[in-house]
Amino acid sequence: MRRITLTQYLIEQQRASGSVTSELRLLIEVVARACKAISHAVGKGALADVLGGAGSDNVQGEAQKKLDLISNEILIEANEWGGHLAAMVSEEMERPHVMPDTGRKGGFLLLVDPLDGSSNIDVNVSIGTIFSVLRSPPEGGAPDEKAFMQPGSKQVAAGFAVYGPQTILVLTVGNGTVGFTLDREIGSFVMTQPNIRIPADTAEYAINSSNARNWDVPVKRYIDECLAGKAGVRGKDFNTRWIASMVADVYRIITRGGIFMYPRDAKYKDGRLRLMYEANPMAMIVEQAGGAATDGKTRILDIQPTALHQRTGVVLGSKNEVERVASYFS
Ligand code: F6P
Repeated sequence: MRRITLTQYLIEQQRASGSVTSELRLLIEVVARACKAISHAVGKGALADVLGGAGSDNVQGEAQKKLDLISNEILIEANEWGGHLAAMVSEEMERPHVMPDTGRKGGFLLLVDPLDGSSNIDVNVSIGTIFSVLRSPPEGGAPDEKAFMQPGSKQVAAGFAVYGPQTILVLTVGNGTVGFTLDREIGSFVMTQPNIRIPADTAEYAINSSNARNWDVPVKRYIDECLAGKAGVRGKDFNTRWIASMVADVYRIITRGGIFMYPRDAKYKDGRLRLMYEANPMAMIVEQAGGAATDGKTRILDIQPTALHQRTGVVLGSKNEVERVASYFS
């Protein structure tokens, strides 16, 4: 099999489509390099004293882990050096981080969840990094929060890395969804999934069922019908899979199908997951792989953001199942 590295893939995309500029290509490579460094830190664990809490909270009042902050620092440092960004937003920072004016100020905005799946960091379960790339509006000056208020449909690239038994990078530049595996010997991401397609039907669903008492009627109905199995209206048995790391749950879904749900409910009235650096990039990746993503009522990529750390309900994955849930909402 011909080995295609991430660099080769991006150069080929640049030649073929013109939508990938050399600056976007270099930015994605900087982010991928940062993911390699994060993967290395995750892999060291207790040996490098990176496990456990950092003793601080993020803007949403969630306790930060040491690895959350280390990953955030790695991404900032890589991108300050890279010079392809105007500013970066992260789950770990309240305000946008404007890149120092080195005379190479870039034309893109990056939004990241540096280390997704925080509750799994200390227990050796897959975690990951999620990223979304927007164009920086052309007006001069340092980009403010307003510059980031673009719907997910404006993303020029989105991706995530999973730090699991293998380190995998999933990427879309708007021309399908592809996957790369980190070859640790040569230090490169090598393409291993050239054309990811999510089956339209599935018998697997992912939801945190400890929230069941808080669910809205459409979600309750959908899950009850799955639980009823063969004897119920669905006429088939379903299986639950819930890893509690969105990166790992979404990776499973793009690999073999399934539906992932973190809906708005009576407790999380605005939803649990963040729109700009969790739902939007995952929605683009899933749609580019033939799946669908909604907050229940609206296509995720059509939601107009009003705040950097805004939350949303998320239902994504196999198209026919997502459409079924959306039909229960309507
Ligand atoms: O913050 C994001 C996240 O860690 C996701 O990766 C995951 O799906 C979710 O939170 C799990 O949250 P909870 O354990 O509260 O259901």
